[in-house]
Amino acid sequence: MSRIAVPYTHRLADTLARLASPGLLLSATKSSGESNIMTIGWGSVGIVWGRPVFTVLVRPSRYTYEFIEESGEFAVSVPTVDMQRYVMLCGTRSGRDMDKLVGLGRVASPGKTVRAVSLDSSPLVYECKVVHHNDVIPDHLAPEIEAKSYGGQDYHRLYFGEITGTFAFTNY
Ligand SMILES: Cc1cc2nc3c(=O)[nH]c(=O)nc-3n(C[C@H](O)[C@H](O)[C@H](O)COP(=O)(O)O)c2cc1C
Repeated sequence: MSRIAVPYTHRLADTLARLASPGLLLSATKSSGESNIMTIGWGSVGIVWGRPVFTVLVRPSRYTYEFIEESGEFAVSVPTVDMQRYVMLCGTRSGRDMDKLVGLGRVASPGKTVRAVSLDSSPLVYECKVVHHNDVIPDHLAPEIEAKSYGGQDYHRLYFGEITGTFAFTNY
């Protein structure tokens, strides 16, 4: 199904609900054309520097991290209900060990405003260009978050992606 451009606020409450459960799908594409995809459960959508921005948190240990570092772009695909098993797989297996796109029969296509691919089967995708990144500062974290989420290692990098396009199925 073809997608049309929509405001970044289109069905935003549904996007945030799916971010919480089961998760959204974050993808990026290197200049070689190679792509990878992973599940994210944390992030935010809002206005920063007068621009619509999708902020995602990616640990350096993720294979996807390399892809965003190299390309400076990413895409976020909102999954449908019947993609829940795929979302779980993308959140538990690394692209270092398996091809989570072509290898699983998934079709992903480059964006209209970024090279990063997004899933053809997703009803809503956000295309983003990184305009800033920063790393979680351990000393600035609430102790209970440090203990629960980090234990002294693999602190997330926050990527602030200006939303350069939001595209939805015409019936979504
Ligand atoms: C529901 C769920 C949410 C997740 N959210 C994040 C996240 O926001 N940031 C992160 O770095 N990893 C997150 N993960 C873990 C990655 O998706 C997981 O480590 C994945 O296998 C990384 O794939 P990659 O190595 O191919 O990049 C999440 C996993 C699940 C199951």
